Amino acid sequence: KVFHLEDYKPTDFLIPETHLDFTLDPERTIVKSKLIVERRAGVGADAPLILDGDELKLVDIRIDGAPLGDNAYMASPERLEIRGLPESGRFTLEITTEINPTLNRQLTGLYRSSGVYCTQCEAEGFRRITYFLDRPDLLSVYTVRIEAARSEAPLLLSNGNPKDKGALTDGRHFAVWHDPHPKPAYLFALVAGDLGVINDSFTTASGRHVDLGIYVEHGKEARALYAMDALKRSMKWDEEAFGREYDLDIFNVVAVSDFNMGAMENKGLNVFNDKYVLADPETATDADYAGIEAVIAHEYFHNWTGNRITCRDWFQLCLKEGLTVYRDHEFSADMRSRPVKRIAEVKALKAHQFPEDAGPLAHPVRPRQFREINNFYTSTVYEKGSEVVRMIRTILGPELFRKGMDLYFERHDGDAATIEDFIKVFEDASGEDLSQFGLWYDQAGTPNLAVTYDYDQATKTFEIEIEQSLKPTPGQASKKPMHIPIKFGLLGAKGRELKPRSAKGGLVDGDVIHLRKRKERFTLSGIAERPVPSLLRGFSAPVTMTSELTRTDLIFLARNDGDEVNRWQALTELLNSKLTSNAKRIRGGKPATIESSSIKLLGEIAANVVLDEAFRALCLSVPSESDIARELGANIDPDAILASRDALIKTVAEANEEKFTQIYEQLADDGPFQPDAASAGRRALRNVLLDYLCVAEADPKRAAAQFNGADNMSDRAAALHVLVQRFSGSDATSHALKAFEDRFGSDALVMDKWFIVQAMQPGVGALQRVQGLMKHKLFSLDNPNRARALIGAFSSGNQTGFNRADGNGYVFFAETILTIEKKNPQLAARLLTAMRSWRSFEPVRREHAREALANIAKVGGLSADVRDIVERTLA
Ligand code: ARG
Ligand code: ZN
Repeated sequence: KVFHLEDYKPTDFLIPETHLDFTLDPERTIVKSKLIVERRAGVGADAPLILDGDELKLVDIRIDGAPLGDNAYMASPERLEIRGLPESGRFTLEITTEINPTLNRQLTGLYRSSGVYCTQCEAEGFRRITYFLDRPDLLSVYTVRIEAARSEAPLLLSNGNPKDKGALTDGRHFAVWHDPHPKPAYLFALVAGDLGVINDSFTTASGRHVDLGIYVEHGKEARALYAMDALKRSMKWDEEAFGREYDLDIFNVVAVSDFNMGAMENKGLNVFNDKYVLADPETATDADYAGIEAVIAHEYFHNWTGNRITCRDWFQLCLKEGLTVYRDHEFSADMRSRPVKRIAEVKALKAHQFPEDAGPLAHPVRPRQFREINNFYTSTVYEKGSEVVRMIRTILGPELFRKGMDLYFERHDGDAATIEDFIKVFEDASGEDLSQFGLWYDQAGTPNLAVTYDYDQATKTFEIEIEQSLKPTPGQASKKPMHIPIKFGLLGAKGRELKPRSAKGGLVDGDVIHLRKRKERFTLSGIAERPVPSLLRGFSAPVTMTSELTRTDLIFLARNDGDEVNRWQALTELLNSKLTSNAKRIRGGKPATIESSSIKLLGEIAANVVLDEAFRALCLSVPSESDIARELGANIDPDAILASRDALIKTVAEANEEKFTQIYEQLADDGPFQPDAASAGRRALRNVLLDYLCVAEADPKRAAAQFNGADNMSDRAAALHVLVQRFSGSDATSHALKAFEDRFGSDALVMDKWFIVQAMQPGVGALQRVQGLMKHKLFSLDNPNRARALIGAFSSGNQTGFNRADGNGYVFFAETILTIEKKNPQLAARLLTAMRSWRSFEPVRREHAREALANIAKVGGLSADVRDIVERTLA
């Protein structure tokens, strides 16, 4: 079944109140739901009430207290239809269902994770608990009573504020929670179990005292302190940056170890993958700390963008996700280094969203149709969705953007809103017409800008001509020109900024070029000398760009651009062009060549103490194998790419060995571990240099020494990575792997790193290694983090090992996906997207990939999740 945006219709009935009563039991949980139902004005008295279900077992059903006769309703596991409803139009519907949380391995609805009862209802999991109008525009006020054995579940949590609790007979007890804010069913949550807690509090700007709790496995409380700190900083930041205050007396976060996604913003009770809560220096890398800070903030920010204002239907998913990602990006930028954060975002967007937009799974930021909504929690909806919000701010400027956001909160608080509503607040706040801009929500694909320049010495004018193009994507053959904001600067000799006196042709507003036609010319006057243009500063639009800039121009920008994002971008472009041309040479049997200018430039940046370490580390990280593959676009041979990348690293490393050694040594003594951005930057620079140095020295001993001496996981994991990637089979590597396992064998999150690093070891040996690791006593496909660590890292992080020329990587992967699918279709479908770029490989691999996908597609009884991905991928 395909769902279409145009088919939206409001419900015939409203459910102003929802009363839920859970009697928890591992295998037989009884859910009694008492709904106050109201027929909407204008709806005929004979209209049936049709509720959603999923694998439900109906035990009892009553209206206004009276049991329903057999022919008054029709119940199947997926649906409950009730006819002959009370004329009055307002009645009480009582439904009892029985569910089995232990058998629920899909991890949606009510399930158990390490003995803890927890729920995941977004997008359509609530219908696995009870029959309901399970759609985001149906808002209801919830009161929840939970009853369980005290020994099994001393802790009983739900949304909102605690109302009552007490003891019952037989060692059982209960708690009652009431959430005064009407909410859609996907924001419902329940957690019950035996967990440890850390408590803190926050006082809002208007003086509300909020109790904060983070619940984790017993013994791991200290590892939640950083998350708590991030939560308090998030609450403060949202007041300052967006004027948003928290609105309940209590805010709880629970970490569970089996979770399909990162985390979930349930009202007042966020449930997290423990990966995004738990951290200490011994077990978490700097990337883990940054991830926790970002996800804690993201889920908290949803309280306003998602919960107070939710989505009318799931087509509007980016309304809450794109906006909330934008908000968490801004938060992290304020907490850390803004340009470094921005570069990380650009890298991630290019690594994940651009390939999605260029392949068979491409879809608009707001899709118009879907078969399985869970397959649309994508990088396009989240990350490109965030970029679209960022562009609104670039177009309107900070003041009007904030004015528009204020209007959004004021006008739509309590609504289930649409993208049209969102765009309208900015139009009303600014008086601008954003209708062309709105195409960003509707047209899939990454626009390309072809740019040409012309400088006229006599008239001192600089002309920029830009042509935008957008290739067809599934279901969209032709595209309209978009409104693309292009931030720019013009650099004179020594990197001085040249300010144009005036502009003619297309609209230029300050430092922003507004491209609105398919092809447009912008003439800037008063430019005293031939400038080097710096376009798309701060990555002001999610586009690709081809320009006439020469190698010399790029080197100039890499040295002088005042915009650090473009400085990094220029360097990346230089390296990419070398890496792709060498990959082609190597594939044609010729050796790689490397200019001394790039070698010198990298050495210079490494040693430039004016730049912060995190930025230098980003510049020195050579584009990844998949970055190079994306740049090549077609006929990809991963072995040639790896050889090209290694050749560059080796040349740069050998030429700069002395300098790199010196910097590495200088950074060694950094005192006791601190998780802040500056310290993390120093570790990042040192660890990128470690790889170069081990390559130059052709010896694992430096990495082994760092591994053994590390006082934190960032340094230890980085050293292990170098050992496994570069010195597999060496004693140093086997020893480190064993030592790591001995030390962290009982810590699942840390062992995920151990699986990941081995899954990514390049070359044909990887497949056998991964198959061997699947038999490891700590391995299980049932735990999503573990499955992603081994199968996900192998399929999306190991270009040469997974995309073997003989196709055996794909055969293994297809079989594994089918195994995972039987228990957890959502996880299987997500992992399967690793094959979305199969058409860009060279013909031999391409054919093997097609065959593996076809073998999945021909299996009978596939889940909707996997069927949707496999069919779109093959289409
Ligand atoms: N809304 C959650 C988040 O912040 C993600 C929930 C994903 N759920 C799903 N069924 N795909 O971003
Ligand atoms: Zn979200």
